[in-house]
Amino acid sequence: MEKTFHITTFGCQMNEHDSEIMAGMLLEKGFVPVKERKDAAVAIINTCSVRENADKRFFGTLGQLKRRKMENPDFLVCVCGCMMQQQHVIDTIKAKYPWVDIIFGTHNIHRFPELIDNALSEKKKQTEIWPDGGEIVEGLPSKRLHQSKALVNIMFGCNNFCTYCIVPYTRGRERSRKPQEILSEVRTLVDDGVREIMLLGQNVNSYRGEGGIDFADLLYLLNDVDGLERIRFMTSHPKDLSDRLIQAFVDCEKLCRNIHLPVQSGSTEILKKMNRRYTKEAYLNLVEKLRKAVPSITMSTDIIVGFPGETEEDFSETLDLVRKVRYDSAFTFLYSVRKGTPAEKYEDQIPEAVKHERFNRLVDLVNSISMEKNAKYVGTVQKVLVEGPAKTGSSIFSGRTDGFKLVNFRGNADMVGTMADIRITGSNTFSLEGEVL
Ligand code: 5AD
Ligand code: SF4
Repeated sequence: MEKTFHITTFGCQMNEHDSEIMAGMLLEKGFVPVKERKDAAVAIINTCSVRENADKRFFGTLGQLKRRKMENPDFLVCVCGCMMQQQHVIDTIKAKYPWVDIIFGTHNIHRFPELIDNALSEKKKQTEIWPDGGEIVEGLPSKRLHQSKALVNIMFGCNNFCTYCIVPYTRGRERSRKPQEILSEVRTLVDDGVREIMLLGQNVNSYRGEGGIDFADLLYLLNDVDGLERIRFMTSHPKDLSDRLIQAFVDCEKLCRNIHLPVQSGSTEILKKMNRRYTKEAYLNLVEKLRKAVPSITMSTDIIVGFPGETEEDFSETLDLVRKVRYDSAFTFLYSVRKGTPAEKYEDQIPEAVKHERFNRLVDLVNSISMEKNAKYVGTVQKVLVEGPAKTGSSIFSGRTDGFKLVNFRGNADMVGTMADIRITGSNTFSLEGEVL
């Protein structure tokens, strides 16, 4: 068979990194990646189940592959990721999409190469789902998307059970990697040209590594890795954000002055129904503490609009919180019912029209603040880690500042992977424009 593959990734950075690992494993088996799915002998779809539209897009994509499979029975269709951890999804695939060859889940991606071998040698479909994550599998290869920055898992799973969220069911309970494993991975990455790492976990603040090492300790350890220049992390749950982590922002010069701190709602009442375990006031206090310790810190958040029972008053609390915090950016989501979560059973679901109307008001507010915040950077000089052309073939390059602002500027291929001084000359809602100094 022709050894080419293509991976389609839905969802969060965790999935993106899983796809990098699958690509790494396939490269080791002599496969080569292709840009377009239509040219691949093996197509992999890594799914997300956090909201309904991701589900829909997955089934749409699967539908598109039917013809290809009919024309070429050797074409291998592989599906994995969060959706596969739900039995009803597996049932639907088996009933309606029989052209899928290999199904596996979030806990056994390391088994993928063997599943391919089995599918080819036995000429038989393979389905292997592990209900829980067992021992963390170390030492898997990874084919990074970027030369100079890398995603690094520090923990897997989530124990929080926010009532709207499917993740605890698809990613299992919290498990932390050993600090030594993380450090040795990061050292290897740095030797391979990585300058920035993004530490990943559903809630990095509850990291507990061997020897009682917590997340703040881990940051101090990583800050001492020679050659590493930037450390970022996501996501942290406000209820677990410790004073020691705030102090780490002050002490660790490599830790970027930026935090993603999902608030979800500004209404204490709704936060309670969401099982978030903090109040609006506690969240605002936390923001104040962070800003006092690290005045230049930039902040982003996630907000859900239209959670069951959300009244106009609750929603105005969210608008009020956004006005108070003034986020650099915010990801806003329409509440989406997820099968098997407690909120699925809540009565008072909000009508779509109301959700959309609130959503639009929130987005307008969030964007106007982002615009004002970005405008303040005009005239400053920012250190930008150059990632690559903004679009393939373009002479406009892009990169991120310490505060995670996206900057576009005229550049060249030699700059990729370097830290460039860029004078900011213009600003938009979602990005800055600049010129190389
Ligand atoms: N509906 C809408 N948004 C959701 N999120 C998680 N579950 C849901 C849901 N059921 C959002 C949260 C989370 C982000 C990754 O996705 O804001 O922080
Ligand atoms: Fe989902 Fe809440 Fe866990 Fe985040 S902390 S993954 S929103 S359950």
